[in-house]
Amino acid sequence: MTTAARGTPLIEVRNVSKFFGGVNALQDVSLQVFEGEVMCVLGDNGAGKSTLIKILSGVFPPDAGEYLVDGSPAGFAGPRDARDAGIATVFQDLATVPLMAIWRNFFLGVEPTRGAGPLRRLDAGKARRIMSEELGKMGIDIRDPDQPVGTLSGGERQAVAIARAVYFGANVLILDEPTSALGVRQSGIVLKYVVQAREVGKGVIFITHNPHHAYPVGDRFALLKRGRLVGTYSKDETSLEALTSMMAGGEELDALSRELQAMSGDPALADVARQLTEGETGT
Ligand SMILES: Nc1ncnc2c1ncn2[C@@H]1O[C@H](COP(=O)(O)OP(=O)(O)OP(=O)(O)O)[C@@H](O)[C@H]1O
Ligand SMILES: [Mg+2]
Repeated sequence: MTTAARGTPLIEVRNVSKFFGGVNALQDVSLQVFEGEVMCVLGDNGAGKSTLIKILSGVFPPDAGEYLVDGSPAGFAGPRDARDAGIATVFQDLATVPLMAIWRNFFLGVEPTRGAGPLRRLDAGKARRIMSEELGKMGIDIRDPDQPVGTLSGGERQAVAIARAVYFGANVLILDEPTSALGVRQSGIVLKYVVQAREVGKGVIFITHNPHHAYPVGDRFALLKRGRLVGTYSKDETSLEALTSMMAGGEELDALSRELQAMSGDPALADVARQLTEGETGT
């Protein structure tokens, strides 16, 4: 997909700010996501990523600035309004209910029914079939739809939540650190679904502190630091090395690395120092 701006963004914030008492969690941040693109929001702890997601998913309005959906003011009174407008947020931990069967998790209260009035019944067969089809489209083969979601891997669980959001008509998917608790292989599974959601024309906002996860799937990259937007870069304007170094603050890292090296001849510390300068960020 190209990264050129295409018409009206699906969602856009302009110069939004948010304060918590004396804390300026977000200052003057602007961001858009277009159809068929993955916009990565990168930032360290406390950078304001969750605050930005909460604004985008309708949890609270910004204290200043604008929020536009399809070019019109959002005016959301809560997360339900945002969902109704096709903006689905998948949170790391709250994505699914562990003890519930996979197919029930997929529908969560909006299961298909058959019959009318007092004869209305849950159409479990149809629900299972739809779920298997939708997950199949994302390349996930569910052996047993009745198996509790808790028995799936973290990556598969994220995938169920993403497939559900896509099925229920979300235009915009907001993924809050979907890979932060996952190992390499499972992160790979989730990243694959991020790409698939883009391929079917969704706008994806992928929040992460890990440039190694963001760079391969992202079309554009917004970097937040202490509540401010450092910049927004398209893929051809940046590189994995540049993102890693900007995120960590290249100079700060170099200083830390020198300090660690100076502390001792301990090979383990030297190793940490070397990894820091090479931009290894773990997970
Ligand atoms: N409800 C709140 N009340 C007071 N301060 C808050 C609140 N929510 C966030 N903050 C502050 O706003 C700043 C940004 O927090 P935010 O949670 O958005 O960061 P983040 O980028 O999501 O960090 P992390 O990677 O650790 O999740 C932090 O300094 C945080 O302490
Ligand atoms: Mg956060």
